[in-house]
Amino acid sequence: MTDSLRFPDAFLFGAAISAYQTEGGNTNTDWWWWEHIASTPCREPSGDASDFYHRYREDVAMLASFGLTTFRFGIEWARIEPAEGEFSRAALAHYRRILDACLEHGVVPMVTFHHFTLPRWVHEQGGFASERFPAWFERYCDRAAAALGDRMAFACTINEPQGLGSSGWLLGVNPPGHTDDREGAQRAVDNLLEAHRLGAAAIRARAGIPTGVTLALPDLQYEEGAQPGTSSLELESRVSDWFLELARNDDFVGVQTYTRFRYGPEGPRSPGNDWSDTTRELTETDETTLMGYEYYPQALGGAIRRAHQSCPGVPILVTESGIATGNDQKRIAYIDAALRGVLDCLNEGIDVRSYVYWSLLDNYEWAFGYAPTFGLVAVDRQTFTRQPRQSASWLGSVARARALSGAGQSM
Ligand code: BGC
Repeated sequence: MTDSLRFPDAFLFGAAISAYQTEGGNTNTDWWWWEHIASTPCREPSGDASDFYHRYREDVAMLASFGLTTFRFGIEWARIEPAEGEFSRAALAHYRRILDACLEHGVVPMVTFHHFTLPRWVHEQGGFASERFPAWFERYCDRAAAALGDRMAFACTINEPQGLGSSGWLLGVNPPGHTDDREGAQRAVDNLLEAHRLGAAAIRARAGIPTGVTLALPDLQYEEGAQPGTSSLELESRVSDWFLELARNDDFVGVQTYTRFRYGPEGPRSPGNDWSDTTRELTETDETTLMGYEYYPQALGGAIRRAHQSCPGVPILVTESGIATGNDQKRIAYIDAALRGVLDCLNEGIDVRSYVYWSLLDNYEWAFGYAPTFGLVAVDRQTFTRQPRQSASWLGSVARARALSGAGQSM
């Protein structure tokens, strides 16, 4: 093994989940409403999700037993502030117990304050497009950081904010379900930028912990003759640039990516680029994943370099990288290739400090429901029994060795 296959001693290996996609029963959110309206684009409701709400102890212990050293999980605003200005001590105590479980197992907690879902009271007053949104978010960050910040190692303010305006106001696949509402989308984006600024400052002031934003940075590739256009992915990519500009003042930037999207002279030409089509067939081939995306683990290196160029000197955390597949050998090969991309970046001198796989558990993939399986651990939909896949122990052994083996993994 050459030194170039080794990761730095302090490098963190872990897995992620979000609150809504795994806890179950988050009835007080905009998404719960969205899943149950007659015109929902969701293939099925989230229901009990992976029952993480009750099974977190076993899940944290399991993650640690694999050899992973960090856990990225979310706290649900709708539980912490179920009505405007009313904070739940019991909900905060619940999340404190999850943080304690991490610390008991020597797992570094990375906490996401907002991952797509809003309390209903925020949604009913305009959601991200409300001019009051940044101040509401700031107050929530302040209260949650005051109650929980002493136990957190990293705070992520808003997960993938760059897509929230377009999916909710242009494509109609997220609440509030508007289509072609450019003005609403712009207001949502402006408010999310301000919310990140205010929320991050509140968390730092209360808890003094490294705080940043986690951005989806798919690799957009233009072939000869292709003109950059206005597809939703391209619009989101421009919004990402605005967030990357803000991230220059943050303590880290969270990088997340799953694939590349190619553009030819006729426009988008990659599979799975149309996010408004939630009814598309979810089957995979050697070239594609269960999300219908191109199998392209090399996207991660490109995303890290983009973040590094935009935010020189700001440490990078890979906060999500993963694949939905029914073939666990393909998952191992994907992670292996993605990690080689991380090593290339480290060898180029880029300060990358973590690789967090999405996801620890099979979970609710938003409008696509439960069919896309991203988990290192399978979850039985009837009993919630956890069944670790081989990829879990494989990634754990990489974490323990802090190195990849010379030969890459094949599918
Ligand atoms: C999101 C997750 C989602 C994952 C896989 C990311 O964009 O943060 O919520 O499940 O991608 O599609």
